[in-house]
Amino acid sequence: MIVAGSLHGGRHQRRLLRFVRDNLVALARLPTAFLSVSLSATGSDFPGARRCADAFLAETGWRPDVVRLVAGALMYSRYGIFKRWMMRRIAAKAGGDTDTSRDYEYTDWPALRREVEAFLLLVVDGRAPVDAREDVRPPAGCARTRDPRGEAPRLRELDPCSRCRPR
Ligand SMILES: Cc1cc2nc3c(=O)[nH]c(=O)nc-3n(C[C@H](O)[C@H](O)[C@H](O)COP(=O)(O)O)c2cc1C
Repeated sequence: MIVAGSLHGGRHQRRLLRFVRDNLVALARLPTAFLSVSLSATGSDFPGARRCADAFLAETGWRPDVVRLVAGALMYSRYGIFKRWMMRRIAAKAGGDTDTSRDYEYTDWPALRREVEAFLLLVVDGRAPVDAREDVRPPAGCARTRDPRGEAPRLRELDPCSRCRPR
């Protein structure tokens, strides 16, 4: 099962929290992935996005097999006056996009599709569960798994490149 939510004011949706808490036992029996969508995950505050995802997991007690931080969107056209002003201020502070006459989508959909497909393949193969808390470095020289921000990924890479894929 894939559970996704977004950050608003540094927290994930209350409904998401309730859903995970209410279904902890069922989730523990399934291969699961958590997608945490935020603007911080665009790279403006990647460690902050990770902290919020970690806080959500600590609060719920859920230990998904996979956690992914996903860059979201700035949909100025959908916000009311106050929210637009507030989001513009936040974006300006983070060096982000401030032209409120248009919307910005930062999600790398092809990459997300690959991640989801890799997760589903592993589920089908029965190889999915890995410990999301593990601090696993990518194999040396693996371009696919190298974090563009220079951070060693803390989660086991589920979509290894052809050189790293176990044969
Ligand atoms: C009111 C509001 C508060 C937000 N707060 C945060 C935040 O604290 N941290 C962050 O990284 N992104 C924040 N975002 C960005 C959202 O996570 C991002 O826009 C996401 O794509 C929203 O998805 P949704 O519209 O499906 O909720 C906020 C967005 C809005 C509209």
